[in-house]
Amino acid sequence: MMKVPDLRRYKHGKRLIVVTAYDALFARIIEQAGIETILVGDSLGVVVQGKANTLSVSMDEMLYHTKLVAGAAQQALVVGDMPFMSYQASREDALRNAGRFLQVGAHAVKLEGGSAVVDRVHDMTQTGIPVVGHLGMTPQSVNQYGGYKVQGKEAAQAETMVQDAKALEAAGAVAIVLEAMPADLAKSITDTLAIPTIGIGAGPHCDGQVLVLYDLLGLFDDFVPKFVKPYAHLKADALQALRRYKEEVEQGKFPSDSESYR
Ligand code: KIV
Ligand code: NA
Repeated sequence: MMKVPDLRRYKHGKRLIVVTAYDALFARIIEQAGIETILVGDSLGVVVQGKANTLSVSMDEMLYHTKLVAGAAQQALVVGDMPFMSYQASREDALRNAGRFLQVGAHAVKLEGGSAVVDRVHDMTQTGIPVVGHLGMTPQSVNQYGGYKVQGKEAAQAETMVQDAKALEAAGAVAIVLEAMPADLAKSITDTLAIPTIGIGAGPHCDGQVLVLYDLLGLFDDFVPKFVKPYAHLKADALQALRRYKEEVEQGKFPSDSESYR
């Protein structure tokens, strides 16, 4: 069983493998595949709820999906993703909302941002709530970026990110997600920190990798970023299955004797 202190072991050697899940069925499949860390991402706003971005996802929605995943997971470390405006407005909000994730079974929470959230990370850590940081292209700031664009290409922004990473670590973060940034910047952040980095669109030098489940399964193809590699094509499989079912019912081939009671 994977526990928060085990994260340190992934700093040198073995890679930390993370995938998102939003329900019990996939949590179980992920565990059967031997993957030990599950992120209940606010990406569910896009892949489950069909929204253009993650901004409208609520605490109640995140807690519902986190409860489903945590209730099914038996081995994996479950990280709950704090949604937009659940931790930004005040330290007190942040702490209370983080606690609610642990109350529904998460082992840690994740939140986006650097210096602006360092005090939140400190408070949570002091309260016994392990925190995963998230730097680079942080989707809850999509309006500020003017779209989903790689971040940290300019030297000043890259330097700020390195400082933010150090500050998150000093505040007690147990790992940091690095999203959509140049591979060499992710490498220097990774080399600087004693806690593991988890890359997504951040090159091969991170201590671990994370992908959105439906992206890696080839189930969601409305928008496929450069950093996604589909390891299956489940949307094509689903379409084929549904069309065949429709056709067979129309043609009177399904149900046949073997699907019928006598
Ligand atoms: O919401 C999410 O799925 C995430 C990961 C992509 C890191 O934040
Ligand atoms: Na997220």
